[in-house]
This record gives sequence, C-alpha cells and structure tokens, in this order.
Amino acid sequence: MTNRRIVPLLILVTLTLVFMSASSEAQRPVPSPELLSPTPPMGWNSWNKFGCDVSEKLIREIADVMVSSGMQAAGYQYVNIDDCWQVSRQADGTIVADPERFRGGIKSLADYVHSKGLKLGIYTDAGHMTCQKRPGSFEHELQDAKTYASWGVDYVKIDWCYAEELDPQVQYAKFHDALAKSGRPIVFSICNWGVKAPWRWGPATGNLWRTTGDITDNYDRMSVIGFSQNGLEKFAGPGHWNDPDMLEVGNGGMKRDEYRTHMALWAILAAPLLAGNDLRTMTAETKELLTNSEVIAVDQDPKGQQGHRVWEEGPLEIWLKPLAGGSQAVGLFNRSDAALQMQLDSKLIGARPSSKLRDLLDHKDLGPIKDSYTTEVPGHGVLLLRVSK
Ligand code: GAL
Repeated sequence: MTNRRIVPLLILVTLTLVFMSASSEAQRPVPSPELLSPTPPMGWNSWNKFGCDVSEKLIREIADVMVSSGMQAAGYQYVNIDDCWQVSRQADGTIVADPERFRGGIKSLADYVHSKGLKLGIYTDAGHMTCQKRPGSFEHELQDAKTYASWGVDYVKIDWCYAEELDPQVQYAKFHDALAKSGRPIVFSICNWGVKAPWRWGPATGNLWRTTGDITDNYDRMSVIGFSQNGLEKFAGPGHWNDPDMLEVGNGGMKRDEYRTHMALWAILAAPLLAGNDLRTMTAETKELLTNSEVIAVDQDPKGQQGHRVWEEGPLEIWLKPLAGGSQAVGLFNRSDAALQMQLDSKLIGARPSSKLRDLLDHKDLGPIKDSYTTEVPGHGVLLLRVSK
C-alpha cells in the first residue's frame, strides 16, 4: 500500500475509535445493584449523634478522621449527611444547600471527600418536606437526582415524612428511575421505616431499605429492632439489603456488652454498618469495636446471606449466618440482665465434632466444638463465633 492510501485509512480508523469510545462513555450503563453494593454499605451518618447540627466543617473533619482513625482501612467508605443540609429551592426548582453551614456548596465538599478516597452521601425525603421540615423531593425526583449526580454524590437516603397519602412502592420506584437516568452510580437507601413491607418490593427498587422505625441509643430499642429481623433473611442478598437502622456504638447510652451485641447482631444480619457516633472523639474501646476486622468480615462476607435464629429459650437466642466457603458465624445472645450458661450443640448447626471455634470479638481460638460447647454469656451480651467447615 502506498503512503497516500495508508494515511486516510489511519485517519478513518482513529476517528472510528474516538467515536466509539465517546459514545460508550455517554451510554455507559449505571452499574447493577450487585456491583453498587455487593456487600452491605459501610460508612458514617450524621443523624444519630448530630441531628440537625450538620455543616461542611463537620463533614470535612469526619472525612479526615475516618482516614486517620483506621475506619476507612476497616472498610468504612460513605460519609453521609442526613437531614437539614437543605434550605430552599431556586426559582427553577433546584435544591439549595444551607449557604451558612455549607458555604462552599455540596460539590466542593464531595470533591474533598473524594480526595480522601471516600464517598459522599446525602439525604432527602419522598414527601413534600423532610422530617425536619426542609424541602422534600416530591415532584422533583428527576431534577434532584440530576443535581446530586452533578455534585458527585454517591449515596442517597430517601425518607418518608409528609408522604402519608403516597404509595411508597410507587414513589420509591420514581427515584429508582430518576437515579438510573442521572448517569452516576448512586447507592439508593430507602428509608420508609418498614411501611408496606419494603423487603417485598425494595430489592427491585433500591440497595437497602429500612425495616423498622428509628433506633435509639439504648439496649431495649436496639435489641427489639435487631432480634425482630428474623424471617427477613430471604429478601436480602448482594445489591439489596435489609436495613435495621444505623449504629449507635459509641454514643454513650449502652454498656460495653450491649454495644458488642449491637455490632455482632448487625454483622450476623448482614446489615449496613453506618457508624453514628462522633469519630473525632471516640474512645479506644469504641474504635476497637467499630473496626473489629473479624466481626466486619462476617457482615461483609461475599456470600451475602443474612443470618437467622436457629434456637431460642426464653431470653437466650442462637443465630447463624452461613459464610462463603462453608464455615458459619454463630451468635450466642443472652437478652437477660444476668449472666447465663449457654450450650451450642454441634448438631444444631450441622457442624462436625472437629469443627473449630473462634471467638471473633476477642480474637481467640477455642478449639473443636466436639458434641457441644458450653460457656457463660454476660447479661445483654454475646459470644460471636466462627465455626469452621
Ligand atoms: C427519620 C429517619 C432518621 C433520620 C431522621 C431525620 O425519619 O428514620 O434516620 O433520617 O428522619 O429527620
């Protein structure tokens, strides 16, 4: 071939390649839910500790400490601003962030959070107003999803206040479509407190859905929520998770054994792990529990199977979560005030006598289970085990 014929051919090939890559960029599909949240989302959310007292300064400082404390290394990724960041809408309907508290705007905050290797989450409401009476997204679903995408938001939690006359299944489907059209992969957290059994329609709509009303920082509320999740396990899996609400670990209202129960139970439940405390001032004990790699590994196990109860006797419960590779996580929970003996029979969980037990909270090998393993579990406490195949 002569040079005269090669040059135009090369130009044509180059142009075709450029066109192909540009069009695949424009049409790049938003990843499937399985890719967006293959394991339960992990991060932090402002609500449980700070309520409406949110600001750009707080979010930046939380992002900083998420990295410096080792939370990021332990798997926590999302920094989520809950209610109260928004104040009004512009004439064209665009949502406006509080100009006093978020002076630089959400986009620059997202850039900062991304520069730390973290992701930013935001909050809105499916109704006319948020629970704290800020503008909701009703009839602005598409516009808000586009705005969030243009800011670089990675996660959106959508609440259910001032939405009584609406059907959650219909409203949340609108957001699903709006987010899919936004052109950005955004984790979708449905927060309608279990109204109209969201586990039935949530898997086709969002990545996680709240199954109950709000958690508070005390053992009674936390345990009522956590232990009531039994039976919902069949609805969860990679990309779509039951959400028994955010963590209260470190907020001060529960004792050590109660927070250990909270963390272990949420791990058995394959629940999203969204820390809800002030990471800047947390104690060594809180940090150790939140970053316990062996407990987190149960929550984040790639099999993505939510655990369930296999035995109960009054205040005593045994829960089991099958793990990838054939081993199992087993929680021995004592819901009474006083310490009690508990026995785990190998037959109950289909373990061989030679199956090895490991205490995950305290990182201790306990030897083979034999026919059964007996131990004392503290009041409101737990023994979280990994049982080998
Ligand atoms: C509730 C929601 C909480 C928090 C709060 C904010 O409805 O369940 O998690 O987001 O609203 O006002």
